[in-house]
Amino acid sequence: MAMTLNAIAFQSPKRPSFALPPLPTTRRSPTLCMASSLRSASKDVETVKKPLSPPREVHVQVTHSMPPEKVEIFKSLEGWAEDNLLVHLKPVEKCWQPQDFLPDPSSDGFHDQVKELRERAKEIPDEYFVVLVGDMVTEEALPTYQTMINTLDGVRDETGASPTPWAVWTRAWTAEENRHGDLLNKYLYLSGRVDMKQIEKTIQYLIGSGMDPRTENNPYLGFIYTSFQERATFVSHGNTARLAREHGDMKLAQICGTIAADEKRHETAYTKITEKLFEIDPDATVLAFADMMRKKIAMPAHLMYDGRDDNLFDNFSAVAQRLGIYTAKDYADILEHLVKRWQVSQLKGLSAEGLEAQDYVCSLPPRIRKLQERAQTRAKQGPRIPFSWIHDREVQL
Ligand SMILES: [Fe+2]
Ligand SMILES: [Fe+2]
Repeated sequence: MAMTLNAIAFQSPKRPSFALPPLPTTRRSPTLCMASSLRSASKDVETVKKPLSPPREVHVQVTHSMPPEKVEIFKSLEGWAEDNLLVHLKPVEKCWQPQDFLPDPSSDGFHDQVKELRERAKEIPDEYFVVLVGDMVTEEALPTYQTMINTLDGVRDETGASPTPWAVWTRAWTAEENRHGDLLNKYLYLSGRVDMKQIEKTIQYLIGSGMDPRTENNPYLGFIYTSFQERATFVSHGNTARLAREHGDMKLAQICGTIAADEKRHETAYTKITEKLFEIDPDATVLAFADMMRKKIAMPAHLMYDGRDDNLFDNFSAVAQRLGIYTAKDYADILEHLVKRWQVSQLKGLSAEGLEAQDYVCSLPPRIRKLQERAQTRAKQGPRIPFSWIHDREVQL
């Protein structure tokens, strides 16, 4: 197994003005650790920063963990991907665009439409906006996600315009995803409820930081990660739609619901790739599944920072958890769904290591649930803290 370990050491004699202090010990609940697991586990890396190095610690960087000969598997799957993957893309002419859901700036009714949008937004509490902003910031870091997929051996877009079905998928997937952040960004701008400059700074910090999903250039790990994440975003946008409806804003509910439907289609595509890998290489795939779950699925925006709050991601996650938009229970549900979807318990012909991995992932959902229930009974009400995204108004965690 070709594997390179590069410890990233951020060395600097004095801390530059924008760099963050070493990781604080947060008052994060064990419940949330399930859904946003990464930072506390990242202590194996030096923490002193250089200017323009990522403001958050990342793990020791493991690269190219897939044996090189396995690249052939992905080459041999190109015909399959052409027939089975690309069908989950929508032709541009049939796709919705952000403008379909927003006031039309070229129409005479523009100002009235904006006024109506703002009247509806007034009925929605600040805590909801914190989560919607966090979701929007996550979507807006799309350059990072395209980069992440293009780190994967055997499926990356080698030229930027590669005709392989893997590359065609990744570019078109990115183009579809690009509408999500665009729509939420424009909606939030027009709503008048948020501090756009603080949000824009958060996006710039986040794209500059990247992400640390620990997928090791390995498409087995990468497609398990994307299967999990697409479902997580489907759940999250579905819940912001439900809450918008409860607050009486049917138009915002439609916006979030439409994005959720895209995520569902993407989830179908990525889970199909992983299903195929389980079919042709069950041992390596179940090992990859167990490996990703042992490392815990890091959320794509786990490195977010607004220039002020050192615990921004944890605080945003705490509000999302409290409002039921994305919770530790969702994490266990998604895992359980994937175990069933890929029929992991029925895999045959596994090695001893593969059997152990199978056992581990199949027994994990009830274990997470038990931990989560225990944490929930112990959980105290969180403090109220200011969020710069909403002009430092306070929201309860
Ligand atoms: Fe998205
Ligand atoms: Fe997505």
